[in-house]
Amino acid sequence: MRFGHFDDARREYVITTPRTPLPWINYLGSEDFFSLVSNTGGGYSFYRDARLRRLTRYRYNNSPLDMDGHRIYINDGGTIWNPGWQPAKTELDSYTCRHGLGYTILQGEKNGIAAAQELFVPRGDACEIDRLTLENKTAAPRTLDVFSYVEFCLWDAMDDSSNFQRNFSTGEVEVVESAIYHKTEYRERRDHYAVFWANAPVTSFDTSRDAFCGVYGGPAAPEAVKAGHCSNSIAHGWAPVGAHHFHLTLAPGEKKSIIFGLGYIENPVGEKFSAPGIINKARAEAMMARYATDAQVDAARRALADYWQELLSGWQLTSGEEKLDRMVSLWNQYQCMVTFNMSRSASYYESGTGRGMGFRDSCQDLLGFVHMIPSRARERILDIAATQFADGSSYHQYQPLTKKGNSDVGSGFNDDPLWLIACTAAYLRETGDWSILDEPVAFDNDVTRAQPLMEHLRRSFRNTHTHLGPLGLPLIGRADWNDCLNLNCFSSEPGESFQTTGPSEGPVAESVFIAGMFVKYGREYAELCDHLHLTEEAASARTAIDAVEQATLTAGWDGAWFRRAYDAFGAPVGSRECDEGQIFIEPQGMCVMAGIGRETGQAEAALKSVEERLDTPYGVVLLQPAYTTYRLNLGEISSYPPGYKENAGIFCHNNPWISCAEAVLGHGDRAFAVYKKTCPAYLEEISEIHRTEPYVYSQMVAGRDAPTFGAKNSWLTGTAAWTFVNISQYILGIQPTLDGLRVDPCIPHTLASYAVTRRYRGAVYHIRVENPHAVQKGVQSVTVNGAPIAGTLLPLAKAGENVEVVVTMG
Ligand code: GLC
Ligand code: GLC
Repeated sequence: MRFGHFDDARREYVITTPRTPLPWINYLGSEDFFSLVSNTGGGYSFYRDARLRRLTRYRYNNSPLDMDGHRIYINDGGTIWNPGWQPAKTELDSYTCRHGLGYTILQGEKNGIAAAQELFVPRGDACEIDRLTLENKTAAPRTLDVFSYVEFCLWDAMDDSSNFQRNFSTGEVEVVESAIYHKTEYRERRDHYAVFWANAPVTSFDTSRDAFCGVYGGPAAPEAVKAGHCSNSIAHGWAPVGAHHFHLTLAPGEKKSIIFGLGYIENPVGEKFSAPGIINKARAEAMMARYATDAQVDAARRALADYWQELLSGWQLTSGEEKLDRMVSLWNQYQCMVTFNMSRSASYYESGTGRGMGFRDSCQDLLGFVHMIPSRARERILDIAATQFADGSSYHQYQPLTKKGNSDVGSGFNDDPLWLIACTAAYLRETGDWSILDEPVAFDNDVTRAQPLMEHLRRSFRNTHTHLGPLGLPLIGRADWNDCLNLNCFSSEPGESFQTTGPSEGPVAESVFIAGMFVKYGREYAELCDHLHLTEEAASARTAIDAVEQATLTAGWDGAWFRRAYDAFGAPVGSRECDEGQIFIEPQGMCVMAGIGRETGQAEAALKSVEERLDTPYGVVLLQPAYTTYRLNLGEISSYPPGYKENAGIFCHNNPWISCAEAVLGHGDRAFAVYKKTCPAYLEEISEIHRTEPYVYSQMVAGRDAPTFGAKNSWLTGTAAWTFVNISQYILGIQPTLDGLRVDPCIPHTLASYAVTRRYRGAVYHIRVENPHAVQKGVQSVTVNGAPIAGTLLPLAKAGENVEVVVTMG
């Protein structure tokens, strides 16, 4: 069952009932100011950091769900409704929500009044614009009371939801005409405030939640909305809010718009006040003047549309397969932008108060983003590298505002350092910008210890190489990619962190997964050394890699698949010797992607085992059989009930690894079959079971052992980036290399042809792939601008050039 449809021409997903199985959200903003908005107008806003600069409140475990948001109320002669249905939940005569590229439009109609609420974050500005357009579709004049409403967060979202003994006394606001200023803590150390404004004179306003909602009222039926007016309340402490009220009349057929804005303003310390205690509003006034008219708002909307048009034009697919085209050309890339910006911080499942930017997460997010805005990828790589320690290990997370590592989590996740090589190599393949390797980068944010980025990569490599265990495989530390496989933790106290309890490293527990990474990304490192003429270093790196590869093929091999790890006692994990957890997905994907066991047949065998033991119609589960009891020696993975999350859920992130691995072995049919299983557009018809948005990936889908089906944790997942890498490079075969673009597809034999437009190092390649013999892999001929070339590596074109490429498979 569907709850809407794709509108490919407008690049929107159109939701046609507010009663989606879960709130289906969109992200507004792609620079500094961000808002989350659901299909019923729920959500919140923040500036840069969802924890430290939260503008509005959101309650995650509330019932009813999704009550806090960007609210508009209409009181039409006692009938109270919202354009997006929530929170009043008055039945509407019609409803649609259009989620587009950086904007959302909620349209509701009730008793002949149509209301459209258009939300977006303009390019280059720190605000959200909400334009409300009302239309009287009847033959009689209509008088309405219209209200806006947001609830301010007292900036630090963590403190805001816990430190009530202080926070009930600190709230402060100012009101000047239609502008409501939220200035809590501005009197002391903050130099930022929020402004919630409207472009027309208000009839009344409120800034106290008690006054607007009523002490025992709430957003579903605020007292002020019921009464038909606000009481011009000024909040002192308690809960500051912003609410505007307009009493207005619409003639028959008349349309009226009101533009609301929610802005974030920072003042230089010396310019904080215009008079004692009165905030300096100059910057806010200038912001409001930029969006005072419909023409200005239209222009800002157009600028946003042009921006996305330009961004997406760099990678476009026409394959005749509608679902594939819309995922590749639009939604998958859109999600990659969001994961690049958010890492795992703020979604409807990530509260924004817990994890900041993840080291491994952000490195992987880059893989799907680097082609869109390489300059931002460059900046991000340097930021991430600056959180690395001098020994090559790294903080697991850092806070986006301060860019400092989070010491409560610390380091010791032994896969982290290798992801830095992965994303830097991807950046170099995309851009050819070798200067990045010379950039001086701090260690642990200490600039006095800065070294060129290349030295960071060297230490990443060495950190793995010098932390090998008894079997010659890399030590796992607190965890590798799988945060929940905690082999050195041994926690028996409820509530303890599985990741940070126990030593950061044991001398025995080893990871076959990191071994696969070391082979794959170690080789990429060695190629960088080649390029820099570091011949000896390249050779000794390859010797080290070969040894780990051998250990993987022997100690890491279980007979029909790769083992997962060895625990702190040296016992295998992910082996037929185990009673549960006999086979895991991660090492099969990573080791085969690394090419391990390709010659020996072990790679083929491993993928066969995946298909036999882990496959389901909706994706490949993480392990089998699921753990049914808690295991002290394995940690969090066995804390989840069977079928959920890392305990045998379909963890979408590593499904593309299997698809990539199949492509490495030339199995185009199987690679695409695996791709389709988790691809949201292909799951749209079962939205009532899948439950999350049909336009983006979710972190996980319940596995076959789980009693309740469905996906969870949509949006912020490494699945977005890895799927884009998979479909664009491994399957469709458009592969950036250090020396230029290579075209080497591995596709389902049924795909007869497709065309890709790919911007690469400033040139635009128009690539047509023909598959006349219905093969899965193999290139017979390539022509560039009509002339045949040898091999599959396209000659590098100059920036600005258009290149016509025809690839014939066979
Ligand atoms: C979460 C984490 C990611 C980790 C994965 C598997 O998605 O953000 O870092 O690799 O879970 O545990
Ligand atoms: C939990 C989740 C896992 C995530 C981790 C981050 O363990 O199950 O997916 O990566 O938290 O710390």
